Amino acid sequence: MSKQNIGATLALYPCPVMVVGAMVGDKPTWTLVAHAGTVAHTHLMVSLMQAHYINQGIRENKKLSVNIVDESWLKAADKMGTVSGNKADKSDAFAWTMGEHGAPLIDAAKVSIECEVDGNVELEKFDHFICKILATYADDSVLNEKGKIDYHTFKPVLFEFPTYEYFVTGDKVGDCGKMNKA
Ligand SMILES: Cc1cc2nc3c(=O)[nH]c(=O)nc-3n(C[C@H](O)[C@H](O)[C@H](O)COP(=O)(O)O)c2cc1C
Repeated sequence: MSKQNIGATLALYPCPVMVVGAMVGDKPTWTLVAHAGTVAHTHLMVSLMQAHYINQGIRENKKLSVNIVDESWLKAADKMGTVSGNKADKSDAFAWTMGEHGAPLIDAAKVSIECEVDGNVELEKFDHFICKILATYADDSVLNEKGKIDYHTFKPVLFEFPTYEYFVTGDKVGDCGKMNKA
């Protein structure tokens, strides 16, 4: 192995892509996001450039949804990363249902997570919304017999920034916590 230092660059990829939904006034809006992740075992963090249209709705209502993208609706999701609500109304982009806590959920998403904003860490012209998970909505088709999401069946799309490509999750390569047991 011969490693080169390629500089202070983004390299934590591939990572799942999601469409974040929020209400702005009485209409929903949708934004494609890849820079997000789990915080503690109760929260998510979503990193959103402050100039984005959706931020105003999130700041005002403190509710958002995270709709995990799979290949079946990738094309429509991708559009939410190229069109800004600052220039075009995206409220009709998806059929949607209001969640129990006031965040709009995309009907085509097999998994949607409804969240409440608990805090915002502002850094380098980005809002980093710290979001408490209030509810997780999963389609029957991706649930196993124990009522858990089956990631053999549900295959989130992954994204990587350096070459701007999408992937899907792949093959199982091990059983967690059992790799060193005989
Ligand atoms: C694959 C992909 C991932 C993206 N991830 C993020 C992200 O994590 N954070 C962010 O602020 N913008 C991200 N964007 C850019 C926004 O989705 C894009 O600028 C969008 O048009 C903003 O919409 P809005 O202004 O209506 O909120 C991403 C775009 C693409 C194509």
